[in-house]
Amino acid sequence: MPEDEAFYDNPDVRARYLAHRAQPDNPNTTLERPLFLSLAGDLSNLDIVDLGCGDAAFGQEALRQGARSYTGIEASQAMVDVARQVLANTPGKVDHNRIETWQAQSEQADLVSSRLALNYVEHLQPVFQEMYQALRPGGRVVVSVEHPVITSNFASLAEGRRTTWLVDNYFQSGARVHLWLGQEITKYHHTLEEYFDLVIGAGFELERVRESRPQRDNFVSAAEYERRLRIPLFLAMAARKPNRHRSRA
Ligand SMILES: C[S@@+](CC[C@H](N)C(=O)[O-])C[C@H]1O[C@@H](n2cnc3c(N)ncnc32)[C@H](O)[C@@H]1O
Repeated sequence: MPEDEAFYDNPDVRARYLAHRAQPDNPNTTLERPLFLSLAGDLSNLDIVDLGCGDAAFGQEALRQGARSYTGIEASQAMVDVARQVLANTPGKVDHNRIETWQAQSEQADLVSSRLALNYVEHLQPVFQEMYQALRPGGRVVVSVEHPVITSNFASLAEGRRTTWLVDNYFQSGARVHLWLGQEITKYHHTLEEYFDLVIGAGFELERVRESRPQRDNFVSAAEYERRLRIPLFLAMAARKPNRHRSRA
């Protein structure tokens, strides 16, 4: 079983992950969620495919907002089980599959999303090509990843609650093994330039890039807000598949 599947299938890790996500002022709620939702915009009447959907909380929210359909792709069987419970009594679906082996149906979606999951994938070029294939003309891809200044080097995580952040080996893309939630996990570092090239190289028009600048209103604690002003945790990008050009009469 690949390491990332085993990671989230481990009951201790999963319990710690879900507890981490439930903490007040956790970075997903204060930083990633508002950023992602603002880039995703109006979800009504959209067919959505979500790569690395986790517990599919986004699917639940999207369907509540009037999305036409939601399909989550998720590698961990345990997370698939959680996601299916979350989506019970909705039309939302979850495929137990890896992002790397997901095969898009041509023009099946209006929005392809991936939130904090692409860091587990080494070779992203075929994934962006598949996303492009999945989208109808005019459809959009919105992704969030851990920011490259974070993924370049995880040494500062060993401090526990970080007070400094080391950026190092930035131009050495690839695997970074680190301890997270009590277990080793491999994430893949890609530079900012590589992310832009992946989006543009797949044929998308890049619309917006954002770096999870904290907004005071999203934090309970003023001290945590101040701390999050120090370094960007997340990078998010929105891009569009071009509309078909009308042929001249
Ligand atoms: C940090 S969680 C984010 C979950 C969700 N997208 C969210 O933002 O709440 C990453 C998720 O991606 C899944 N994942 C990791 N590698 C994957 C892969 N290669 N294919 C599919 N899912 C993967 C994990 O099992 C986990 O559920």
